[in-house]
Amino acid sequence: MDFPFDLHMLLDSDRVVSVWDSAALGRRRQNPMWGPQMAQLIDTMGKLSAKAQSLPGPITTQAKLLGTDQRLYLYVDQNQAMGILKVGKKKLFIRNPAGACREIEPLCVLDFYVHESCQRTGIGRLLFEVMLASEQAQPHALGYDRPSPKLLGFLARHYGLSSYFPQANSFVVFDAYFDPDFIRVPGLKSRARHDLAKPSLMPTTSTTVPWAIDTPEPIPNQRRSGQFLPHI
Ligand code: ACO
Repeated sequence: MDFPFDLHMLLDSDRVVSVWDSAALGRRRQNPMWGPQMAQLIDTMGKLSAKAQSLPGPITTQAKLLGTDQRLYLYVDQNQAMGILKVGKKKLFIRNPAGACREIEPLCVLDFYVHESCQRTGIGRLLFEVMLASEQAQPHALGYDRPSPKLLGFLARHYGLSSYFPQANSFVVFDAYFDPDFIRVPGLKSRARHDLAKPSLMPTTSTTVPWAIDTPEPIPNQRRSGQFLPHI
């Protein structure tokens, strides 16, 4: 997705993935040029995401991010905006098949979009992996807000996540969330521990990353407030 301004200058980085929270966006807004440009970038990507999911309106806009503790990961390469991923904590009441209810507060995937011109080329996976590293999170330990068929396919394909009990709310929490034996091995699709011994599940080829990326260090808690660095 093209924009009529220099995205890397706006994001103050030539890195592919940057992360933005309310404080960092607030600082950008104080600049008379960058404020409107940042809003245009986020709002445009939010609109495209809503359209791709057939939602009545965008769930990601700059205005909606301000004042929240949510974080927006932006994928920008060669001055093209290619994807967004928004995460934040949500309090959820989850019922199991026996009807018992449990309150949990996982980090949740709230909005995830890769531009149509480059879907299924690994960009979503890269964006997701950067988010996991930055948030120090595991895919099976996340909640997913109204996941689309494409996102469900993505999670099954890359992380072996498919089994869940449908909830009255819009969220999906995979059974693995409650499974103490479920582990994720970096570089492999996630599987229950007993499945890992099966040779057919071992990778036969290594994954190549299509664009250079700086692997982020986990964001320490103190950087999330006050001195938060806006980009990875
Ligand atoms: N049809 C079916 N599965 C798909 C499709 C598709 N058109 N596109 C991606 N996938 C799944 C498949 O499992 C695919 O693996 P395969 O090609 O081997 O079958 C895998 O994702 C590909 O992985 P990536 O290339 O890393 O993923 P991508 O860059 O396409 O990003 C994403 C995945 C974000 C779901 C993207 O397809 C997208 O933006 N879709 C439209 C918007 C959307 O549905 N977003 C999720 C909304 S729900 C929420 O945000 C909580």
